[in-house]
Amino acid sequence: GFRGVIAVDGPSGSGKSSVCRAVARHLGLRYLDTGAMYRAVTWAALDRGVDLTDRPAVAALCRALVLDIATDPGAPGIAVDGVDVTGAIRQSRISESVSAVATNLDVRADLIARQQAILAEEKGTGVVAEGRDITTVVAPEAEVRLLLTADESARIARRARELHGTDDAAALAATHAQVVTRDARDSTVVDFLVAADGVVEIDTSALTFDQVVDAVLDVVAETR
Ligand code: C5P
Repeated sequence: GFRGVIAVDGPSGSGKSSVCRAVARHLGLRYLDTGAMYRAVTWAALDRGVDLTDRPAVAALCRALVLDIATDPGAPGIAVDGVDVTGAIRQSRISESVSAVATNLDVRADLIARQQAILAEEKGTGVVAEGRDITTVVAPEAEVRLLLTADESARIARRARELHGTDDAAALAATHAQVVTRDARDSTVVDFLVAADGVVEIDTSALTFDQVVDAVLDVVAETR
């Protein structure tokens, strides 16, 4: 079976989290959600009242945090200084603030080093790692490198169903600004909208969940 690193990048609403977990389960690999790490630092900064625009303070907080990351694709989780924040980091107050933390280059340097250490540890088993800069910065040497894209309306509809359980007009309107604003802010520091050299792009706009999983598994199979 495949052993090594599968690096997956993509914007919010590309469906990459559920796809990556399914791929990891199918292949018996570990799963690393790097977005959860940026969300956990954001949770800690809000919890401790650290001003998100105070970059040195947020970076110092980040470096001091103990992050425990569960890489079981059936039950991924994250704890900050012993507090399980797996559920709390999905709150919209975190989604709205996370870009301010993720565009802090000192935070990025710290989290990228931690992500690379986790990948080095899990390499023997094999791991699917997802985020915005995995194919380009965190693991450019990964055996499999993928960019999952989707057109804007497909991404907004997917996020609306995740957040509101429906993609009716009201849910789409409520989700639109959130998706577009976060991607615009995030893309000021990392380019996750264009596939880098050697990265396979999968446009998921017109594909079902199972079709995307199969497309990823096909790329992995061709890599062996
Ligand atoms: O993937 P998810 O939407 O949970 O990521 C949350 C946020 O974390 C993103 O909006 C982005 O600001 C940041 N992120 C990042 N680099 C990564 C993964 C996530 O900057 N590799």
